[in-house]
Amino acid sequence: MKILITGANGLFGQNAVSRFTAAGYEVIAAGRGDCRLPEVHNGFRYISLDNRDEEAVHAEVVAAAPDVIVHAAAMSQPDACELNPEECFDCNVNATRYFTEAAKTVNARLIYVSTDFVFSGDDGPYREADQPAPVNYYGQTKWEGEQIVLQSDLRRAVVRTVLVYGNILSGTRSNIVTWVKENLEKGKPIKVVSDQVRTPTYVEDLVQGIQLMIEKGAEGIFHISGKEVLTPYDMAVRVADYFGLDKSLMERVDASVFSQPARRPLKTGFIIEKAERELGYRPVSFTEGIDKMFRNEGKIIG
Ligand SMILES: NC(=O)c1ccc[n+]([C@@H]2O[C@H](COP(=O)([O-])OP(=O)(O)OC[C@H]3O[C@@H](n4cnc5c(N)ncnc54)[C@H](OP(=O)(O)O)[C@@H]3O)[C@@H](O)[C@H]2O)c1
Repeated sequence: MKILITGANGLFGQNAVSRFTAAGYEVIAAGRGDCRLPEVHNGFRYISLDNRDEEAVHAEVVAAAPDVIVHAAAMSQPDACELNPEECFDCNVNATRYFTEAAKTVNARLIYVSTDFVFSGDDGPYREADQPAPVNYYGQTKWEGEQIVLQSDLRRAVVRTVLVYGNILSGTRSNIVTWVKENLEKGKPIKVVSDQVRTPTYVEDLVQGIQLMIEKGAEGIFHISGKEVLTPYDMAVRVADYFGLDKSLMERVDASVFSQPARRPLKTGFIIEKAERELGYRPVSFTEGIDKMFRNEGKIIG
């Protein structure tokens, strides 16, 4: 099976390319600019592609003729999206339309990676059938991307995920675990939010969940995340406990103390029963995720 992965230089993309090549898929890794993927395995080909270029997207998809496209590329930082709405719309909505059209041309299945930020955060954790109502522009554009994919007549699926943590092999990509660890190790005090909830997702679980979707031909919407409902403060406590770091450096605060350009949904997180039942998806606990992340010492596993 031939799989084209967009956003291949990103946190999810690097891990997906690694696992999918190891699983024996023929992988085409599409990223912006130069390849930032390590040569973990033979068997993946890198293409440099700016997804805002409709003609280039069409040409590359036709040339690659994949069986499945996993469209994970996105402008993924909510504050940047709020401050640069045109670029965000191009990257998250227009580009998704281009991949949807191109997928039709080659009759590829399309799996679109989306987010808990499509929800308002008033009443999470959420199920797949709950009504999106995004509170920031990032969430709005990801929801529009979902609708383009779902309303197409392709064989298609939307996989939503939440607060992804894990190792990226090259480049830097901070996440809740590395942020807490690095600050506490340096003895720096941190303010940590205790009135939001999420179900944090270990990146290898997300990749595995999507692999299950590919293998089972899953269609429709799937929530793939961790299972534990935690506040960022709870997560920070787990990180500090795991590494034996000084918790007195952590101050519990409400999200309202941070003035960020993009509003954050308060209570999201997912109920993942559908993925457990229909895919056999089994995520690790947050503490197991930290353990895997650091026992692996930053290596991407094949
Ligand atoms: N990380 C999370 O906590 C989280 C939570 C929920 C959902 N998601 C979703 O999961 C997906 C993967 O996220 P991630 O964590 O892997 O994010 P990431 O590390 O930011 O990766 C996204 C990738 O998309 C690429 N990209 C953006 N605009 C592009 C364009 N115009 N052309 C080509 N490539 C472009 C970026 O390229 P550059 O590296 O060159 O910028 C980046 O490598 C996204 O769709 C995101 O919305 C993530």
